[in-house]
Amino acid sequence: MGDDTGNMSIYRYGKEVLAYIMGMARNDLCWCGSGKKYKKCHKDFDDRISEMKFDVFKGQVRPPKKIINNRADIEGIRRSGVVNDGVLDLMATMVRPGIDTASLDDAAREYIESHGGIPACLDYEGFPKSTCISINNVVCHGIPSKKTILKEGDIVNIDVTTILDGYFSDASRMFVVGGKTTPEAQRLVDVTRECMELGIQAIRPWGWLGDIGAACGRHAHENGYSVVTDLGGHGVGKKFHLEPFVAHIGKPGTGMLLVPGMVLTVEPMINQGTKKVTVDSGDNWTVRTADGKLSAQWEKTVLITETGTEILSS
Ligand code: MF3
Ligand code: CO
Ligand code: CO
Repeated sequence: MGDDTGNMSIYRYGKEVLAYIMGMARNDLCWCGSGKKYKKCHKDFDDRISEMKFDVFKGQVRPPKKIINNRADIEGIRRSGVVNDGVLDLMATMVRPGIDTASLDDAAREYIESHGGIPACLDYEGFPKSTCISINNVVCHGIPSKKTILKEGDIVNIDVTTILDGYFSDASRMFVVGGKTTPEAQRLVDVTRECMELGIQAIRPWGWLGDIGAACGRHAHENGYSVVTDLGGHGVGKKFHLEPFVAHIGKPGTGMLLVPGMVLTVEPMINQGTKKVTVDSGDNWTVRTADGKLSAQWEKTVLITETGTEILSS
């Protein structure tokens, strides 16, 4: 009894003490909030990370624990995504020449609220509406308005973020008003969608964030387009915008380690002309191409799983 103090206890409890000094004890509740014992939850995960080499010259960093979602979190984001997808499906039925964008926004808000959710954009850092609706040369963050009327041939992005039971899901789609536009505009819409898909296909558990941007950017540039770099994707789930910032250009094998349980958006903004953008000095939100040429964007919320990815909103 008398020796059960100081360093002696290290010898007495051996491995347990060492495990505690180095991190969590095997029988502690896991840091992810699953309620399971550490040894049955994220211990192997942590061991794998601690055995890895991170190359600072490639910007390789460990993901912070707060962006790793447990099963309950993932289920929450998945349920939020079902509502969010429903909003975009509704928008698809409403987009037509002559409709004003405030009417679309009202319908989106009504849909989200009647499904028990909250539109995340409404009052977000002062944003006045429930969705972002961005037409032609507007890159993103277009504010819906009674005065903004869709016309045949416009290319329109509708970006919706739903909060359900505290969980955020975020997605956007492009729509061609009236179903037909110029071949140039249609090609931009199609290639931008391919950029998003290729970015998502580049995601591997235990791969790297830069893999995403490399795939997106390569496809855009090969098609003669520029990639907006002032804005990008983001972690999403328990908050609207979390780490990491997801660039849509990049180098494979660089940046944050991608691990199972991370949820992020891939949302390339691709321009016909310059990648430079301006922010409206009147409303402080509307982002436009600096040269007035067209821009397109698609966005999905993506879960990284043990084996690949699962789309939680699209
Ligand atoms: N949904 C956008 C995104 O993809 C963010 C819009 S913020 C708002 O990250 F305030 F403009 F709504
Ligand atoms: Co969005
Ligand atoms: Co987003």
